[in-house]
Amino acid sequence: MPKKLYIKTHGCQMNEYDSEKMAKILKQEANFEITNSEHEADLIVLNTCSIREKAQERVFHQIGRWRKIKNKKPGLKIAVGGCVASQEGDKIIKRAPEVDIVFGPQSLHRLPELYKKKEKAKKAQIDISFPKLEKFSHMPAPDKGEPSSFVSIMEGCNKYCSFCVVPMTRGHEVSRTVEDILSEVKLLSKKGTAEIHYLGQNVNNFKGTYRGQVSSLANLIELTGKIDGIKRIRFTTSHPHEFKDDLVEAYANVPQLVSHVHLPIQSGSDRILKLMRRRYDTNKYLKLVEKIKKIRPEIRFSSDFIVGFPGETEEDFLATMNIVKKIKFDTSYSFIYSQRPNTPASQMEDNVPDKVKKDRLDLLQERLNHISFGYSRKLVGTKQNCLVMGVSKKDPGQLQARTICDRVVNFQSDDYDLIGQLVNIQVNEALPNSLRGVINN
Ligand code: SAH
Ligand code: F3S
Repeated sequence: MPKKLYIKTHGCQMNEYDSEKMAKILKQEANFEITNSEHEADLIVLNTCSIREKAQERVFHQIGRWRKIKNKKPGLKIAVGGCVASQEGDKIIKRAPEVDIVFGPQSLHRLPELYKKKEKAKKAQIDISFPKLEKFSHMPAPDKGEPSSFVSIMEGCNKYCSFCVVPMTRGHEVSRTVEDILSEVKLLSKKGTAEIHYLGQNVNNFKGTYRGQVSSLANLIELTGKIDGIKRIRFTTSHPHEFKDDLVEAYANVPQLVSHVHLPIQSGSDRILKLMRRRYDTNKYLKLVEKIKKIRPEIRFSSDFIVGFPGETEEDFLATMNIVKKIKFDTSYSFIYSQRPNTPASQMEDNVPDKVKKDRLDLLQERLNHISFGYSRKLVGTKQNCLVMGVSKKDPGQLQARTICDRVVNFQSDDYDLIGQLVNIQVNEALPNSLRGVINN
């Protein structure tokens, strides 16, 4: 009888990808099957995020709720993985002794082994090491191809932006080989994946080898475009500093590359960018945007922003508001600065009052939403080539697709064979977070 596994995932796309792999590896090596009920589980895995303080606190609240289940079912094991695990290690057990296993983002492939060890031993099992690339060579092959599939191509980040914990929690950059990635993509394509979404914390600094030579993201994208059945290619997250000319040119050479780039700017103030150690100024960022637009005029940029960084003045914030207007960023993410342990910024005084941070965030989000809705409205009346992603969650009589600029479009159809296909949709309505249309092939 298979044992039951319940996984809860916090945080980024990388964590979602990792959780999916954990489920597969536990199935193959320890006979687990997924359950949607934590009460039924023999093993609960929490894949955590530590990017902001609030995310981190959620972890202990969550474990507290599971403690009650464990009290009634002592055989239940709780495993904590991801960035909080990597950062806190055995401190997790000290604060929450009901946790049985602690593992890091790069040791997740050892989960079946850790589980088996814990079944025999009383002692909690902790493995938060960074075995270089070992994780990828243990990754199970995909068993089905979703219309769009994530493929992680590198781990970690060397950038050390002054506010960020990722270099500490996920370790230094390591890239998979191009051959290894392409064989995964070919397999996905055979199983029906139409869109490949490459993932990495700093994905455009990909340095995997191809035939023994150091390659680049641009080269990987060009080779991916040649694989049968791959209709779209996207990648996140890029750092503006490493967006090299060959990657810009890929927009001319690879038609499957989508017309949307997520390119976090963080702030519109050069003074703050310097304090953030971002390695570019607004001028360099603007030049890059222009260069890409010259090749793909219809391209949209989305971004991440931090407001209330230590020392951020009204003037700095206005510079951020201005750059948003200038670049007309599409659907973006914005956050209040959160002081993180062991980061250089944690040495700076977190001196912007909470109320000011909150007000700035509201103003910024209002502007971002306004621009993004404007883009949606402009699409009304146009015909868009869209990739059908699946059945609408709200209505089984509707399918959901995405435009080349990554807008969600719902349309009436129960022809499920269209899933994974490119179709033309006449857009006839813009809602705050999606579009509505009719198929018009
Ligand atoms: N390159 C990464 C970025 C990681 S974090 C990626 O793959 O997404 C995602 C975003 O979280 C960052 O771009 C930044 O805007 C935000 N962030 C990171 N550290 C933060 C902090 N200490 N406080 C607030 N926001 C933060
Ligand atoms: Fe973090 Fe900066 Fe890397 S935001 S993930 S240190 S590029």
